Amino acid sequence: MKSDLGEEKKLAAEFAVDDLIKKGLIFSGMKIGLGTGSTAMPAVRRLAERIKDGTLSQIKAVATSFQTTIECENLGIPVFSMNAREINGSLDLAIDGADEISPDKHLIKGGGAALLLEKIIAYNAGTFVIVADSSKAVDGLGIKFPLPVEIIPEARTSIIRRLESLGAKPTLREGVRKAGPVITDNGNLILDCLWEADENGRSPLNPAEMEKLINGITGVVENGFFTCNVPIVYIAENREKVQVR
Ligand code: 5RP
Repeated sequence: MKSDLGEEKKLAAEFAVDDLIKKGLIFSGMKIGLGTGSTAMPAVRRLAERIKDGTLSQIKAVATSFQTTIECENLGIPVFSMNAREINGSLDLAIDGADEISPDKHLIKGGGAALLLEKIIAYNAGTFVIVADSSKAVDGLGIKFPLPVEIIPEARTSIIRRLESLGAKPTLREGVRKAGPVITDNGNLILDCLWEADENGRSPLNPAEMEKLINGITGVVENGFFTCNVPIVYIAENREKVQVR
């Protein structure tokens, strides 16, 4: 199953980049935001192939994480800050993965703890594109994959109380091969928040409302609900077919 999903991720990512080039949404000289994770990486690699074979030139990339910056450096894709003169705070397109995708294309992101830069890039992109394997489509958000919330460490306990009052069960994300909590690329902590399904087994949440409510808690830096820039979604149906939503 795991390797099937790996193949689906690669298929969706490569199909999306080629299709977006065909449709003129990825083009030479453009400013492009590049996502984080195991589905975004094959998209970054496909972009590098298209630069290498001469299909694309003068691409200016902004990376959503150290992972993506390092991959771009290894592949020779020029990386800029959002604040660089060449980027000037806005992008033509951003392409990224997601942890959950609802039928109205609201998302949970941040499984790789990169949600802050991912959202800055997604919300400042003219076109937002998601690439995903078939496991990411869900009926409702927040009851299976926990919502990541990036927080200032000093506010951990007060934020946990506020999130609990919103019905969430927050858990501090622990590091792997590192003692103690995950520290994000921005020096913050992550609380992963799960909600209980209602009596019909559905999500009780309105993600657009919850995105704003959670960001109103003092000490919250950002949360992983993405509802404000509705993406084009390339989602693998199986190892051979990609659906565009
Ligand atoms: C990282 C993200 C990723 O896009 C999300 O976790 C999906 O990851 P993957 O493509 O590895 O399943 O939001 O912060």
